[in-house]
Amino acid sequence: MAIQWQNQVCLITGASGGIGEAIARKLAGLGASLILTGRNADKLTALLESLPGRHTIACADITTQEGLDKVVAVCHERQPTMLVNSAGISEIGDFKNMPMARIETLLATNLTAPIALTQRLLPILQRAGKGYVVNVGSTFGSIGFPCHAAYCASKFALRGFTESLIREYANSPVNFYYLAPRATKTAINSDAVVSMNQALGNQMDSPELVADALVAQLEANKSRWFIGFPEKLFARINGVLPEIVDRALIKKLPTIKRFLTSVTKEKLS
Ligand SMILES: NC(=O)c1ccc[n+]([C@@H]2O[C@H](COP(=O)([O-])OP(=O)(O)OC[C@H]3O[C@@H](n4cnc5c(N)ncnc54)[C@H](OP(=O)(O)O)[C@@H]3O)[C@@H](O)[C@H]2O)c1
Repeated sequence: MAIQWQNQVCLITGASGGIGEAIARKLAGLGASLILTGRNADKLTALLESLPGRHTIACADITTQEGLDKVVAVCHERQPTMLVNSAGISEIGDFKNMPMARIETLLATNLTAPIALTQRLLPILQRAGKGYVVNVGSTFGSIGFPCHAAYCASKFALRGFTESLIREYANSPVNFYYLAPRATKTAINSDAVVSMNQALGNQMDSPELVADALVAQLEANKSRWFIGFPEKLFARINGVLPEIVDRALIKKLPTIKRFLTSVTKEKLS
């Protein structure tokens, strides 16, 4: 049955970020009511004021118990029908120089928080009669990209988490979706990453394209959606014949390292 956007109440994490904001604008335009989450209260307020319709802000750090409790309390009031886990952070550079505290924060943000939110909101989503959970992964959730070890670990795990739930809840009223953007023009990408993508000839999408893809994915009811060619092809090849992708990426290693190894050195100095 076609999704009735005007009947949806959607919790969007990372709504103060590039992709989350684009998703918020798209869904509000379709008539959904939103719960906007992020840590930056000013950005969330400016977004809320610019959107058509009635929405709520839940300003919180979702890596903390207190932050999660705050978001869940708002959800008990608003009874969301949809959870979009878009909040995320990145760490790039030489793995040996990546501070462990930053790796832990990355895993808490990109993996533990969506898992915790999904678990805590599941009873509410089940009560809705028809519920939706969309986890925003990445091409790097299927391809281990050099100098992104912790980020790739978090997105591979998020993909596995989603796949498990797609199967476990197949006969339930809640549907699970994994949406994998490729490089997208948002603040998560430092200048070094943008320069590297240019040097490698990697396309960068607009966040609006990702928001359109989310709507297309849900309307087509496709559990998995990979954005961009050749990225979606490489993701498939990597699953079957990873040695081919090993060779392609090892050839590009000098370029990748030229742009990304200096990043961790800067952080440590
Ligand atoms: N841009 C890309 O190239 C790309 C490609 C593939 C996948 N993705 C994925 O797309 C998602 C959105 O990324 P983006 O590009 O929109 O990045 P972004 O513009 O940097 O936005 C990240 C969002 O995450 C929120 N966030 C980070 N830590 C948080 C925390 N502890 N508690 C609550 N919110 C937190 C930020 O909120 P505050 O700033 O308000 O704290 C912000 O709203 C991420 O999962 C990312 O991994 C991005």
